[in-house]
Amino acid sequence: MKVDTIPHLNFSGKTVLVTGSSRNLGKTIAAAFIETGGRVILHGSEENLRSTKSEMESDYPKAELYSISFDLGQPEAIEKAFDQLKSEGWMPDVLINNAAHLGLGESGFLEQSPEFFREVIEVNLFGAFLCSQIAAQYLKDTGKKGSIVNISSLAGRRGIHGRSGYNVSKAALDSMTRSMAQELSGDGIRVNSLVLGYVWTERWNHLDEGVADRRKANIPSHAPSSQEEIARTTVFLASDSAPTLVGSQIVLDGGMDIQQLPATVAV
Ligand SMILES: NC(=O)c1ccc[n+]([C@@H]2O[C@H](COP(=O)([O-])OP(=O)(O)OC[C@H]3O[C@@H](n4cnc5c(N)ncnc54)[C@H](OP(=O)(O)O)[C@@H]3O)[C@@H](O)[C@H]2O)c1
Repeated sequence: MKVDTIPHLNFSGKTVLVTGSSRNLGKTIAAAFIETGGRVILHGSEENLRSTKSEMESDYPKAELYSISFDLGQPEAIEKAFDQLKSEGWMPDVLINNAAHLGLGESGFLEQSPEFFREVIEVNLFGAFLCSQIAAQYLKDTGKKGSIVNISSLAGRRGIHGRSGYNVSKAALDSMTRSMAQELSGDGIRVNSLVLGYVWTERWNHLDEGVADRRKANIPSHAPSSQEEIARTTVFLASDSAPTLVGSQIVLDGGMDIQQLPATVAV
């Protein structure tokens, strides 16, 4: 996997944890940080991590890589994982809260069980909360500067029909971004979020006929965001290039957020 990044950005000597980097968007973001010289911690399920780590090792033989698997829905597992990172010299300077429970399936408001709703919030909100709290406390205690980027979604602003748990989790993540940014920026820890519309992932290859075209027709620019574009923007947000970029929500969505109705239904 090769990703074009913004040339002058350099993460040499910085340790970067990208949650959910065992596949899809997180994997591309991890590759972008490797391209810019970062020491990268890959995270996800053990099964997916094995193949992703070998692929990265083969594509980037000089990269310093670490991989760790923990369930973001289990607070004790998160704490244990960060203890391991600390004892092995891999505490992150940069945290990308990318992993998510996509909340597919029984997540319509009336259909979902309280357990399902809780599970989505546990992973997407509490998981990101705890990772951020531990990482930020470490940075503060050691006097290091750092950056946190929360990967969010238009679902937190507008709501995807039938996915209320996911929608709520992303709205809360956006709010948490603002609180974290306010309280942590004075300690040299910048927090921002990337709000995504449609992202091209391999799932697009398995959509029912016509779905991809209908999705594109909903986007003013007629194309989903590529993972590379998002990865480049994430690296920029995490870099020192814009030191006063604090608590912002950068929207990458081809113009979906600014349209009242898609062209196909507007009159
Ligand atoms: N794809 C889109 O169109 C889109 C649109 C807007 C926003 N986003 C956001 O972009 C981010 C990435 O999306 P994606 O499409 O790349 O997601 P994805 O393909 O479903 O990948 C999710 C990643 O998160 C990990 N993960 C999921 N649940 C976890 C848990 N309980 N504990 C630990 N790791 C867990 C997965 O690990 P394993 O698979 O190895 O278990 C995987 O690496 C998410 O925050 C999503 O909300 C995506």
